[in-house]
Formats: sequence, structure tokens, C-alpha cells
Amino acid sequence: MLSYENKLILAPMVRIGTLPMRLLALRYGADLVYTEELIDWKFLRSKRKYNDTLNTIDYVDQTDGTIVFRTCDKEKEKVILQLGTCNAERALKVAKLVENDVAAIDINMGCPKEFSIKGGMGVALLAQPEKAHNILTTLVENLSIPVSCKIRILETPEDTLKVVEKLVSSGIKAIAIHGRTRDERPQHAVHPDVIKYVAERISIPVIANGGSKEIEKHHHIQAFKEMTGCTSVMLARAAEWNCSIFRKEGLLPMDTVIKEYLKLAVDYDNSPSNTKYCVQNILRDLQETPRGRKFLDCQTLEQICDIWELGEYCHEKQSKYQKMGIQGRWQVCP
Ligand code: FNR
Repeated sequence: MLSYENKLILAPMVRIGTLPMRLLALRYGADLVYTEELIDWKFLRSKRKYNDTLNTIDYVDQTDGTIVFRTCDKEKEKVILQLGTCNAERALKVAKLVENDVAAIDINMGCPKEFSIKGGMGVALLAQPEKAHNILTTLVENLSIPVSCKIRILETPEDTLKVVEKLVSSGIKAIAIHGRTRDERPQHAVHPDVIKYVAERISIPVIANGGSKEIEKHHHIQAFKEMTGCTSVMLARAAEWNCSIFRKEGLLPMDTVIKEYLKLAVDYDNSPSNTKYCVQNILRDLQETPRGRKFLDCQTLEQICDIWELGEYCHEKQSKYQKMGIQGRWQVCP
């Protein structure tokens, strides 16, 4: 059974946390990796298929053939699927579909985006603790794999603890706490003291989150652990910018990370648009350089790979996949 103690974790990140980035994080030293948030009703349109060209399990949208979720054996014991939901029955249906393909299920109770709140998902669930509790209990009682949730802090440490205690009483195995309130944005200071206040008072592991602004090097993770009194830490932006933050041996140069990422993107036939988005978030300001502008003009995976001298690698792999009969239909990103 999965343990949540003493773990370094890749946070759920929409569009970033697809298979190549999760595998890269694991290679660099992450112990557990969350998927991007997947919305329950969208997931329910998909069908599970084994892809014998890539050796992956693909959940393919039946309406348009796009890949909703792709996973493989390498991450099976370490991947946590995060669901966006406001409905216990639907959440359970999805969880049952993936139960044998992932290590655990997490429910997003922290997303402050309008799309989530309007749909009664994400942080909206913290205003309805009974409903949130019901979703978690339904999953805990009917699944053979662990269940967790990810929340934000509330206005006071006491209010936060009260909601957390309610959620913990569902039987979840861990809770990730992003140390910002629903109205605070990533540039605002995180509140490690609130995470600590809660972690000291509950019996299950608390996963501390929200420290990326101060985590520029691997050893800064230790300081965040101490400030929050947690043994497990979850990183989002620090990993989005340079995934080698998980390496004990220290950060790798950006170009090395991009190359390793691109190889995985090619190996797992990741869509050009998703690959481009992830590389853009590694390059950040460097998109303004001549090389960055050339990169922004790219439309195919091979063009992107060419910039990092992997054009040939990409060409050969794609030719091989085509011969083996892969169908190039990918999730269209907004
Ligand atoms: C996020 N975050 C997020 N949270 C979540 O529960 N589900 C999700 O799908 C996403 N998606 C997402 C995308 C991107 C691009 C970012 C930057 C963030 C929030 C994230 O997991 C985390 O809680 C915050 O970013 C704070 O942690 P860091 O960045 O300080 O480590």
C-alpha cells in the first residue's frame, strides 16, 4: 500500500502533469507524481485501451478520439490521479475505471478558477464540507486504493483545522495543503505556519504545498519541511520551471532538462501542442531570444526537437510508430 510519509511529490498541474513530465519527475527523484486535474464527466466519455505500440494504457475520448489520460507501467505504483468533481457517484465511476491502473485517487478541493467554482468543484467544496465528506467517504468505502484530497487554507488556522478534521474523518490516507487562501494568488506569500498548525493536530500525513517561490534549489525543500512541520512536500511551479529540482545532486541546466523532456515526449507520442506548452514554461523569458522565437514558430514535434538537436531522433521514432500503426489523435488544448 502506498505510503505518504517522507515523500517528494510532483503537484497536479493542468497541461503540465501529462505522462512525459511525470516520468521525468520520477527520473529526477520525485517519489510520487500527480496527474493534471481530470474532470469527472469528461473522463466518463473515455474508453480504456491498451496501446501496444507505446506500451501505454490510453483513456480515449469516444466523441473525438483524443487522449484523456495516458499512463504506463513505469509509473503505476507512483501515479495519483487527481479528479475534479462535485458528485460522489460520478467520481466513483471514474475511480472504478482507473482503479487498477493508478496508485491512488485525489480530489481537487483547492482550485479557485471560475470554471471549477461555478461547477461546484475545487475550492467550492470547502464551503460545503458535508458534500466534500460524502465524496471522499464514497470513494474510501468502495476502492481498493488510497484516497486523498488537496485543499487550500481557510481564513484562520482554526477554520482550516475544522474543515480538515471533517475531511479526515472520511478515512482518507493523506491531505495536501496549499498554504494560501482561495483569494490569494501565487505571488502572495505562503503561510507555512497554518500548514504546521494543522499538521500538528491531525493523525494522517499532511503534504505541504505552496513553497515554490522560495524553492530555487533542492536543499530549500528541507527548509520548507521544517517551516511546515511536514515530512512530505509537493512542488508545482518549481518543477514546472525546472523539473530537476527533484534531484538531490542539484539542478541540471535548462537545455539538458528540455532535451530529456523532449525525448520522453517523442517516446510517448505526446501531442505537439502539449509538448510546446511545457517547453514554453521551462523557457519562460527566454522565449524572447532568437532561439525562443524560432521555437514559438514550431508546429510539429520534429520542428521543436530540431532546435535541441533531436530532430533525427524524433523523425526515426515517428516513422517507426507510423509503421506500427499508431493513430495520431491528440487532446486539443485550449
Ligand atoms: C496548478 N495547480 C493545480 N492544483 C490542483 O490541485 N490541480 C491542478 O490541476 C492544478 N493545475 C495547476 C497548473 C499550473 C500550471 C500551476 C502553476 C498550478 C496548483 C498547484 O498544484 C499548487 O497548489 C500551487 O501552484 C502552489 O504550489 P507551488 O507552485 O508553490 O509549488
